[in-house]
Amino acid sequence: MNNIVSDKELCDIAIDIQKNAYAPYSDFRVGAALLCSDGTVYTGVNIENASYGATVCAERCAIFKAVSEGRKDLVKIAITSSSGDFTMPCGMCRQVMTEFMPDGEVIVTNGKEIKNYKVSELMPFGFVL
Ligand code: THU
Repeated sequence: MNNIVSDKELCDIAIDIQKNAYAPYSDFRVGAALLCSDGTVYTGVNIENASYGATVCAERCAIFKAVSEGRKDLVKIAITSSSGDFTMPCGMCRQVMTEFMPDGEVIVTNGKEIKNYKVSELMPFGFVL
């Protein structure tokens, strides 16, 4: 079910979509690719704003696109950035992952190597109501 798109393919999609990041303030461009259980991929980029707090991260962009389309089967999300290093999701994105993909996986790539984590290990004791 989750093997329709390989981790490498998901990372390549994240790397490709990074070109659409809107990051004129930080110049730190992030791309994300979120896989659902049937193989559907939702992409996301960071979208900054002159009012900095209105910025949305690439991960939440992708997750909100999927959730807004009615998806409840979020499996894994790949993340890449313009830093050339591995970019780990911020705390707010980890909390959102806890909400919508608590059993899911996070894949980070620096463009050469891939690292895999469980959402639950990146966000132990996340807030739940
Ligand atoms: N950013 C993301 O999109 N995802 C992360 O995991 C870390 C941070 C964005 C937010 C902001 O546009 C820029 O990177 C610098 O913080």
